[in-house]
Amino acid sequence: MSMLYSKYALGPLTLQNRLVMAPMTRNRATDNIPNALMAEYYVQRATAGLIITEGTAPSPNGLGYPRIPGIFSPAQVEGWRRITDAVHAKGAKMFVQLMHCGRIAHPLNLPAGARMLAPSAVEAGGEMYTDAEGMKPHPAPQAMTEVDIRSTIAEYAHAAKNAVTAGFDGIELHSANGYLLEQFIRPNTNQRTDGYGGPIENRARFVLEVAEAVIGAIGMDKVGIRLSPFGVFNDMPLYDAMEADYTYLAQQLNARGLVFVHLVDHSPMGAPPVPDAIKATFRKLFKRTLILSGGYDAERAESDLAAGRCDLTAVGRPFLANPDLVDRWRTNAAVNAPDMSTFYTPGPKGYTDYPVLMK
Ligand SMILES: Cc1cc2nc3c(=O)[nH]c(=O)nc-3n(C[C@H](O)[C@H](O)[C@H](O)COP(=O)(O)O)c2cc1C
Repeated sequence: MSMLYSKYALGPLTLQNRLVMAPMTRNRATDNIPNALMAEYYVQRATAGLIITEGTAPSPNGLGYPRIPGIFSPAQVEGWRRITDAVHAKGAKMFVQLMHCGRIAHPLNLPAGARMLAPSAVEAGGEMYTDAEGMKPHPAPQAMTEVDIRSTIAEYAHAAKNAVTAGFDGIELHSANGYLLEQFIRPNTNQRTDGYGGPIENRARFVLEVAEAVIGAIGMDKVGIRLSPFGVFNDMPLYDAMEADYTYLAQQLNARGLVFVHLVDHSPMGAPPVPDAIKATFRKLFKRTLILSGGYDAERAESDLAAGRCDLTAVGRPFLANPDLVDRWRTNAAVNAPDMSTFYTPGPKGYTDYPVLMK
């Protein structure tokens, strides 16, 4: 008996199966506005139980990369509305991932008047792609003032309300992979000496206040969060208290009643492995839905679900390359390989032209 293709109650929602399309930035949103090409891409994949969108900025300050969508303007809400309507018609539920890039940005990628903000003025190592001038070193961000903290939290709440107006079933807070929320959690990027820096109770405060604000705006059944304990992407080194810090987060997020926690394991992409112990800690301490992701194929997804390690499995690259992934996995059919060279390039190539099986 397959669990992967059986229905699942995510809070009040019924998912048509337990396969989640993982959030994937695809940089097709010209002028940061969701468009018809994006609608086609998501609809092609709407046999998933749940689609989590690509990282989407809650405000102009959050737009670190070129051509990523936002959800702060009326045109963006309208663009997303067309996408959620079409996806719902095919049966999938849809959450928008709210991604504020923080220091992982470049002024050339930001609209006029937007600012690169982070907990502290610590620049990331490495470079950032810009449409205007190609690869550029990461500049140092501005350390957020108390006023910036309050206004950024308000931006998240506004974006969450917009998500509901746009027809989304909920939001996923992107608190993984080195973006703003994780920049507050980690000591290398958070060197603050106020109530938002220092011990984990302070470094977790911004994330928890954002969670409380979006729950206040749209309700706990519509709010999930993505975390990457032991993740090192975007210049976030490992440190001794990592496990204790994320154990604290598991407890605090459970107390706030979010509908899911979604854990990232990027070891299949060459990152250091995420210890099984931390996944088990979340399973034990977080009582609502747990989503695991990273390197899943159908067999591993089925066995993790059967063993009770998680409730849902999220899949990235296989969904990117196989619009009909659910059918292919269910029938043990061959799968298309993803083409990395078109992950982030504009236009339909490598986006909406992956072949589907003939029926
Ligand atoms: C092209 C691409 C873009 C991605 N963009 C995001 C993103 O916007 N937000 C996020 O949380 N993770 C992002 N990820 C990570 C995926 O959600 C996922 O965790 C990763 O691909 C590992 O899962 P997989 O082995 O099933 O591909 C991205 C991955 C890829 C390949």
